[in-house]
Amino acid sequence: MPSSTPLSWPTPEAPSCPILKILQGQVALVTGASSGIGRSIAIALGHAGANVVINYLGHPDKAESVAEEIRRCGSKAITALADVSKPDQVEAMFQKTISELGRLDILVNNAGIQLDAAFEDITLDQWQRVMDVNLTGPFLCSQEAVRIFNKQGIDPTLSCAAGKIICISSVHEVIPWAGHVNYAASKGGLMLLMKSLAQEVAPRRIRVNSIAPGAIRTPINSAAWSTREAYDALLPLIPQKRIGEPEEIGRAAVWLASDQSDYVHGITLFVDGGMTLYPGFETGG
Ligand code: BGC
Repeated sequence: MPSSTPLSWPTPEAPSCPILKILQGQVALVTGASSGIGRSIAIALGHAGANVVINYLGHPDKAESVAEEIRRCGSKAITALADVSKPDQVEAMFQKTISELGRLDILVNNAGIQLDAAFEDITLDQWQRVMDVNLTGPFLCSQEAVRIFNKQGIDPTLSCAAGKIICISSVHEVIPWAGHVNYAASKGGLMLLMKSLAQEVAPRRIRVNSIAPGAIRTPINSAAWSTREAYDALLPLIPQKRIGEPEEIGRAAVWLASDQSDYVHGITLFVDGGMTLYPGFETGG
């Protein structure tokens, strides 16, 4: 890749307050929504008319600024402090959702962490923490959501589904990743959590899917895009030859949460500029 490749590419813009509010009146809870992909998803859902619960762990000020941005577009937004791997905190967060916003229609299991190390150096604590946040978190949150969806049933004035769950996975649910074994294992696990749950709850009209982002410009992977050298090393892995922007995941989440995708069930939607297309074969093979 020539070193003249820009670090930032023009990407399609969505209007910040779209007139088409396809999620009007629905309530969405997004975990890990104070920054990165979660932030963009929360804002996109809010702009599409949903009232949003912004879950966060470390940065109340950032969570509040996401809420303010959503309120500017006319939707309600509240923040909820919770570690998604702790059952009592998760339960309290869903109770807060119901008591303050009245219902739940959409859960986005976004919270995730990377604790990278060579395989032989991964500590049990690093292994466990990644599993706790990336896999136990979606398990606990989805369980709370399914219980609520069961109780609520379908409100046809809002959606033809009783509820929607979207897991934010990764291209590494299928691409092995040396040096990141704990992370890749957690995302592989999330894939079968999502698919097995999707199979189980489909008859109740609860829709479960994943989005698998590739390299997206967020803090979690700033080492991979913030310098010229790192960016040039990243591009050969991406057929589109550009990094993705968080808003592109937000737009995919709005579609997956809406009735526009009602017959889409138990799939992973890769939003990765083609990263899963074996880019090494562009010229080889
Ligand atoms: C990881 C990023 C990485 C991307 C592509 C994501 O799941 O969080 O750090 O850049 O996958 O490898």
